[in-house]
Formats: sequence, C-alpha cells, structure tokens
Amino acid sequence: MQRFATAEEAALALRPDHPVYCFRPQVLAGDARRFVAMFPGKTAYAVKTNGEHMVIETLLGAGISAFDVASPGEIRAVRRFSSDAELLYMHPVKAQSDIRLALESYAVRTLAVDHEDEIAKVHKIVRGLDIDPATVTIFVRLQTRGHAAYELSKKFGAAPAHAIELLRRLDRYGYRLGLCFHVGSQVEDPLAYERALASADWVRNRAGVAIAELDVGGGFPAEYGHDPRRRQVEMPSLDELMARLSANITEWGFADTELVAEPGRVIVARAFSLIVRVLLRKGRRLYINDGIWASLSDSWTGRITLPARFVPDPAIRSRNGNPANIVPFRVCGATCDSVDILSRPFYLPETIDTGDWVEIGHIGAYSLALRTNFNGFYPDTFVEVETPFGQEGPPEGLASIETMA
Ligand SMILES: Cc1ncc(COP(=O)(O)O)c(C=O)c1O
Repeated sequence: MQRFATAEEAALALRPDHPVYCFRPQVLAGDARRFVAMFPGKTAYAVKTNGEHMVIETLLGAGISAFDVASPGEIRAVRRFSSDAELLYMHPVKAQSDIRLALESYAVRTLAVDHEDEIAKVHKIVRGLDIDPATVTIFVRLQTRGHAAYELSKKFGAAPAHAIELLRRLDRYGYRLGLCFHVGSQVEDPLAYERALASADWVRNRAGVAIAELDVGGGFPAEYGHDPRRRQVEMPSLDELMARLSANITEWGFADTELVAEPGRVIVARAFSLIVRVLLRKGRRLYINDGIWASLSDSWTGRITLPARFVPDPAIRSRNGNPANIVPFRVCGATCDSVDILSRPFYLPETIDTGDWVEIGHIGAYSLALRTNFNGFYPDTFVEVETPFGQEGPPEGLASIETMA
C-alpha cells in the first residue's frame, strides 16, 4: 500500500479519478486501545462494521483478541489472521449449516438467540456433534428502547418475559447462559444503556438461573460532523458515557458478571477517510465518483453528517467566487440511479469545480462494508496515511471543517 503523510498529498500525487480510501492504522490501533482501556470487560470488535484484512490485522496487533461475527464469511475474515482469536457468533438468526460449520470447523462456543426455534436449531446441532452444552455459552438477546441512528430492536431481541422462558429452556439443556442487548448503532440517547441494564436485571431476577455473562453490545457513538441546519443531539463524550455505563453496571448488580462489549463504529470510524473527485459541477450540484451504492450509504440511511475537506486541484488556474464562502452543494453519486443523490448537502467553498477533490473523513464504519458493484463501480483503492483526519490544517487557509450529510 502506498504511504503518504496526508490525504491531500495522496490526492495531489495520484490525481485519482476513482475513490481512494485513506487508511490510518495508528488511529485505528489508538481508538481500539482507548476503548479497551475504558470498558470494564472483554472487547469483541464487530467485524460487520469493517472486515477489511488491514483492519483485522491492525486490531489483532493492537491486542484485540475477541471478535463479534455474524456469518462464516466474517469468521473466515478473522481466522485468516488468527487461529485462536475468540469468535462470538452474535447474529440471533442463523442458517443451520452455518451454525454447524461454526461449531464443528471453527471452534465457536458462543452464540446468540432470541427465539425458541433458534434454540432448537442450535441444540440439535450441539447434540449431533456430541458437544457438552456446558462448554457452550448462549446469550439471549433482549429488546431495548431508545434513540439511535439505527434502531436494532425492531428486528431482533426477545421481550423481557419471553427472554425469561428462553433462559429457563437453555438452562434445562445445560448451557452456560448470557444476556445481551444492542441499544442501536450511533446511540443518541444517553439513558439507553441504563434502561437496557435495568431490563436485564429484571429478567435475571425473575428467571432464577445463573447468568454467567452480560454483553452490552455496540452502539457507542463515533465522532462525526454536524449539519449546521439541523438541531444537534446533545450526547455525553465517550469518556462520560463509559463512566456512566460502568457506574450503571455496578448499580444494577452486574459488576461480578463477566462483561462483553461489541463495539464497531467507535473503533473504526476515524481510521479511514475517502478521497472523492468532482466529476462535474452543475451550478450548486456536484457529481462525484462515489455515492450511496458505494461508500456513502451509511451517511444516507443513518442521516450521519461526515466531516469533509476541500482539496483543490492546482491545475485549475481560475476560479469563480470567494474560497472563504462555504455554501451547501447537492451531491449526486456515480451511478445512473436517481436515488443516488445524497439527502443532505456537502458544505464546501463556493469555488469548488469539476476536477477538484473532497476528502470525506471518519468514514471507516459501514462504508466499505456496504459498497456494491452496481453499475460496475466498486471502489477498491487504498493508501496509508499518517496524519489523522482534521490535523492537517485547512487547505487554502480555510478556517472551518466543512460538513455534509
Ligand atoms: C449484534 C451487533 N453487535 C455489534 C454491532 C456494532 O454496533 P456499533 O457499530 O453501533 O458499535 C452491531 C451493529 O449492527 C450488531 O448488530
């Protein structure tokens, strides 16, 4: 992978016409270590967020030794680099063949369920493989309530009374038991974890079975930008959120239970930025070479505002307007699909023109992982960049970090 001090240096040296992902391994390792130091339990990185080989390798190097996986593809992404990393198969609805493969070929011994029929599938395979249920930890996933960019309890999770039945059934079969929840990705409600812990406590007290582990899921918010035209959600900093979570864990009597977290976004978002090129400017519209079917679907569906920096092409000798004037541009993606127009604007200098580049920051989560080959566009060029996004100083003396949604 080619290395550059900054993304701007990469753009000016490569003059790329196709999107380029700028990977910052030091940022990734630093953010992973920071989370591990703050969370009072085991950190299992959620591979779905970004399962690129460079991410898995860097995280293993930074000391992450547990991974939340959702499919054999994600299991293989980890096993390619580590034969002994712990794999937690936390997807609550799995194919029978995938459960068998995980248990038989990859030594997975931790799974999640949210329904009795999923328990029946797992138990049949455990019996068939002659595995002692006491060596398998099964987490019952609880529904939660709260606000997040993505609510995950619409689809998964058992209501508290149902979770009690599931725990008792698993206990009768002899499994080691856990409770887990996911408060939603990019949580926007500081009380979400506390409510989920209260619910887990309620379930534990009534189930009357021993709960060996509690998995508080992901959801920890990553640092993004803020659209100046929208109301800003007031969220505590990660340090404050973690301090509150740790205090709540003690208050709700889980301090002696083994704890797990499955962070994704908060670990990998800052580790990548993306250089895109303006293929055409039409008035206040910019047509760029990426879009919702490539790296920008998360910012679109999650209404996430990403910070962006303007990288002007020095070959453009004359420009209209004032570079200090930051104005909103409607952004159209690379494909022929008219859905591929971002719902919210990029704020950029009014001088931006066809041929310039924009570096979109903090794009490491749910970007590459969701890119498609639609229309034959599949961004897959990577460079390594040393300087964290936002520390390079504004190009052309611009004072602000422009934002887009
Ligand atoms: C089961 C599970 N664990 C962990 C994560 C990671 O969540 P986040 O990126 O919000 O930390 C997700 C995200 O969808 C998930 O579904």
